[in-house]
Amino acid sequence: MWWKNSVVYQIYPRSFADSNGDGIGDLNGITAHLDYLQKLGVDVVWLSPVYQSPNDDNGYDISDYQNIMQEFGTMEEFDRMLAEMHKRGIRLVMDLVVNHTSDEHAWFIESKKSKENPYRDFYIWREGKDGKEPNNWGACFGGSTWEYDRETDMYYLHCFSKKQPDLNWENKAVRNNIYEMMCWWCEKGIDGFRMDVISMISKEQSYPNGEIHGGSSYADFGPFVCNGPRVHEYLQEMNREVLSKYNLLTVGETAGVTIEEAKKYANLDGTELGMVFQFEHVDLTVGEFGKWTDERFCLKDLREVLNKWQTELEGKAWNSLYWSNHDQPRAVSRFGNDGPMYRKLSAKMLATCLHMMKGTPYIYQGEEIGMTNAYFEKIEEYRDIESIHAFEDAMERNIMAEEDMISALKVISRDNARTPMQWNRSRHAGFTTGTPWIGINQNYLQINAEDALQDADSIFYYYQKLIALRKQYNIVVDGIFYGLLEDDDKIYAYERILGNQKLVVGCNFTDKKVDCTLFDNAEEGEELISNYKHHKKGILKPYEARVILFS
Ligand code: GLC
Ligand code: CA
Repeated sequence: MWWKNSVVYQIYPRSFADSNGDGIGDLNGITAHLDYLQKLGVDVVWLSPVYQSPNDDNGYDISDYQNIMQEFGTMEEFDRMLAEMHKRGIRLVMDLVVNHTSDEHAWFIESKKSKENPYRDFYIWREGKDGKEPNNWGACFGGSTWEYDRETDMYYLHCFSKKQPDLNWENKAVRNNIYEMMCWWCEKGIDGFRMDVISMISKEQSYPNGEIHGGSSYADFGPFVCNGPRVHEYLQEMNREVLSKYNLLTVGETAGVTIEEAKKYANLDGTELGMVFQFEHVDLTVGEFGKWTDERFCLKDLREVLNKWQTELEGKAWNSLYWSNHDQPRAVSRFGNDGPMYRKLSAKMLATCLHMMKGTPYIYQGEEIGMTNAYFEKIEEYRDIESIHAFEDAMERNIMAEEDMISALKVISRDNARTPMQWNRSRHAGFTTGTPWIGINQNYLQINAEDALQDADSIFYYYQKLIALRKQYNIVVDGIFYGLLEDDDKIYAYERILGNQKLVVGCNFTDKKVDCTLFDNAEEGEELISNYKHHKKGILKPYEARVILFS
């Protein structure tokens, strides 16, 4: 299982590198920067969707699974990119979005035509109840999950936007079509799939009303959609029909996953997926208004969640490790400190904390140079469908003051992670020669890849070293995790044990020095990495991280 020793780098293609000056990142832009990724040392690229799409949700609404989005390039350019990756020892994991398609997908266009159409049952159609929607579920990007279709006087289900109709996995023909498409990509030579909201593919067939909470006008569909009745059966079937025939990395994006469910999805017998993304550590601040708050996490809660996943999956399932992705704010802004004084130190501390845990680490583009939140001030600057809908909804229904919503967006909006990759100090950060599709973070003069490559002490080289340690020391991959200092509210510490070796990891999550006896006997071991050159006995300096191997 090669992916246990791997580090994955996520590319959000729209924002990575633009090769032709139209302001939109593209495949040739990625190909042009593969040496950079090789230098970093990552083994795998996870590429967010590049398929044909009307871009209602930036490619997570696919209208043709076997064609490349025009803005991103051509299939020939894709093949070249894949070949250039493989030449450099980098494998490619594709995003698989099969809970839903675009409403512009040929299947949906057919499905909509009539109740008798052979594609009708590819989607989920229900009759209305008393002239209203079939039930009270609310969609992720606003409104009801049901959209009325006048032609046939029925409603179709969409858990996300109305341009993202959910596929009907109960229909074997749907599943067969998906498996065939997956095999087609595998035959092309790709190395895996990241499966978009794959925990949502099996719905409770009675479609009952849900409970309405707090300020919402709609119910949460979660209990009837996430980890639904047949989801494991479907994934086992997919595994038999596709996954088991190739040597793939598979990771499920599993909204609502619990430890018990994860043990099934990512079981070590390999009958379903390789690993899953859990959400508990990025949902710590979810509250009355869902994710829309500017509240910060607290270390005790964070540790409780991460340690639980580390210890409870031990020997049962494999973890994935991440601080950020295209749906989350920037890691250093959210969990570290993005001010000028501590940005570098805290970014390295977070990297240490994550990469020394047990599981496969994921780096989101720009994280390796410590890119920060965009903190857009005006709603006009946002491009993300979720952010825009949430803002409009909050204003329309008067549930949050405008300034509160803006301050929530500033710290939690998905657009924080979607501003273009900062390559150098030239105009538009070297991302494009044209007009970028979304604003560039103006700190690119201080934070960019070119400067990082010139600075031996940069975050980039720190990540490079962390990745190299994983290759060098088995204990980083296989050591059993045990939490340390579990009541501390400033230091996150743990150890990893393998045979008679012990790896001790200590991370100060604050901007103050704190007392710490963890490393009092550090001379007896070997320091593998630290973000400080000099240490003081009995103390961890602000955002200090240290890793000592005892053997
Ligand atoms: C996943 C994607 C997200 C997308 C949603 C609907 O959560 O990561 O970007 O909006 O699914 O496809
Ligand atoms: Ca372009």
